[in-house]
Amino acid sequence: MKKVLDSITEVLSQAFVQCGYEEKYGKVGLSNRPDLCEYQCNGAMAAAKAYKKAPVQIADEVAAVLKNHPLFEEIVSVKPGFINIKICGEFLKNQLQKMAADGKFGCQIEQKPKKIIVDYGGANVAKPLHVGHLRSAVIGESIKRIKRFFGNQVIGDVHLGDWGLQMGLIIEELHDRQPDLVYFDPNYQGEYPKEPPLTISEMEEIYPAASIRSKEDAAFAERAHKATFRLQNGDPAYMALWKHIMSVSKADLKKNYDRLHVNFDLWKGESDAQPYIPDMIEDMIARNVAYESQGAIVVDVALDTDAKEMPPCLIRKSDGASLYATSDLATLVEREKLYQPEEYIYVTDKRQELYFTQVFRTAKKAGIVKESTSMNFIGFGTVNGKDGKPYKTREGGVMRLENLISEIDEAVYLKMEENARKKEVSLEREEAEQIVPAVGLSALKYGDLSNQPSKDYIFDVDKFTSFEGNTGPYILYTIVRIKSILNKYTKQGKNPEEATVFYKPNSESEKALMLTLVRFSDAAEAAYREIAPNKICQYIYDLSNDFNHFYHETKIIDEKEKEKQEGWIALLKLVKQVLECGIDLLGFSAPDKM
Ligand code: ARG
Repeated sequence: MKKVLDSITEVLSQAFVQCGYEEKYGKVGLSNRPDLCEYQCNGAMAAAKAYKKAPVQIADEVAAVLKNHPLFEEIVSVKPGFINIKICGEFLKNQLQKMAADGKFGCQIEQKPKKIIVDYGGANVAKPLHVGHLRSAVIGESIKRIKRFFGNQVIGDVHLGDWGLQMGLIIEELHDRQPDLVYFDPNYQGEYPKEPPLTISEMEEIYPAASIRSKEDAAFAERAHKATFRLQNGDPAYMALWKHIMSVSKADLKKNYDRLHVNFDLWKGESDAQPYIPDMIEDMIARNVAYESQGAIVVDVALDTDAKEMPPCLIRKSDGASLYATSDLATLVEREKLYQPEEYIYVTDKRQELYFTQVFRTAKKAGIVKESTSMNFIGFGTVNGKDGKPYKTREGGVMRLENLISEIDEAVYLKMEENARKKEVSLEREEAEQIVPAVGLSALKYGDLSNQPSKDYIFDVDKFTSFEGNTGPYILYTIVRIKSILNKYTKQGKNPEEATVFYKPNSESEKALMLTLVRFSDAAEAAYREIAPNKICQYIYDLSNDFNHFYHETKIIDEKEKEKQEGWIALLKLVKQVLECGIDLLGFSAPDKM
């Protein structure tokens, strides 16, 4: 479906041609001065230079040609040479009619859909999830949904950190605590038990304890390294333990990610990449991509055009150990073998940017990934507390994701209680328990996604959970408000489903709402192109504001004129659908009541 901006641009371009100027000057954009007009064309300013005329003269000519054009309610030239445009209500109404009938609300879906892998989440097995992992999960999930909305085949992979030192630490700590476990008996020949030797809560306690201990106790640290090495070389007892640790931890992680409405298609991890490493390194050496340097194996990735120093990518240490990069490269080998995507998107802390540049360049240089495949890195900033320092618990420890969610949910509950008290209604516990997690999630995700990913932001529970302002709960509140109007309409004995014909705008606020509605495709396409969920947030916030403004000025339920009321109901339904689509792209949904 043709966009409003394209339709107007087409008409203006023809008018420029009719007046003897080049077509390209007819380009129209949104108005910089919404108080004066809705759209504007600045082409006369540029044409003035080319045709050596006063800009206002050109603008006058073009505006005169279009004076009675049916598309415009008003088209005027203003000094020094702008063309200010207001479009006619009838046209806008027809546009909304088309938008409501289009499954994607007018968005241009990818002509050539791509297969895309999004690597996000990145939790580490057996270690607690913290706020840093929150951002990866929240941003990655939204990117995945946006890419999918535009028709692509998207595979989300959690890429677990499941093959590192944490495993050796847990194994050795467990060894000391429960030395009689069969896993530690070198003479044991039988099958290893099916039941895990520890629960998730034991694991959550054991890892931090072992980690602290390893910093104070060098001998223990050494043992943990050795245990990790033994595991990585396939020791059967340690592999059996590792599998237990994996299943206990994965079940817990799934629970947490479910709570966040974050769903992965693949639950792969670093361990899955290990079998590919030996051949990969051998191949890189044989092709002269990798070479030995001081006993280690490295790949040069610096380019003449680099502004900053680009160190070589280290893929094997001199002691034979592989590294983070080795595992990421081998993961690419596996992904190419199994999926052959045309695009990769990695979502991690922005401090890993240089690292990923090294990995991407190595992958292309070694021919692991085709030159034509796009490899994108989305680096996010830090979640800070109000003091501007990384967000911590009240006691100063690392904030765990569950606690963060509880903190938000608690704040939402208190707000709802307060609202209920103001309205003098009672808040049913059961009802609140259903609503709070949905509202809490909107606060958490919107608070994050409304920022540009690369920016740090301040985790402000009070602000994020507010029902007013640029927040998730405000957007939900708007949707819930529409749902309640539609309910009232139904109670009048009318069927909202049957209200499908739009009505031309009757007031400024109604027209403003309609103009914002038709902008959805521009906002969504920008979010898609730029991999920027914050553009969706900005848009749904504008739409919510415009809707609420319209709502406060309009008596929808009391309207007697049938066609008008039906037009408004059609409008409300479309606003609701677009808002719901927006929050779905962000990864949350609205309750029926709030
Ligand atoms: N597990 C890593 C961490 O906690 C993040 C993994 C990111 N993805 C990747 N392919 N390296 O920092």
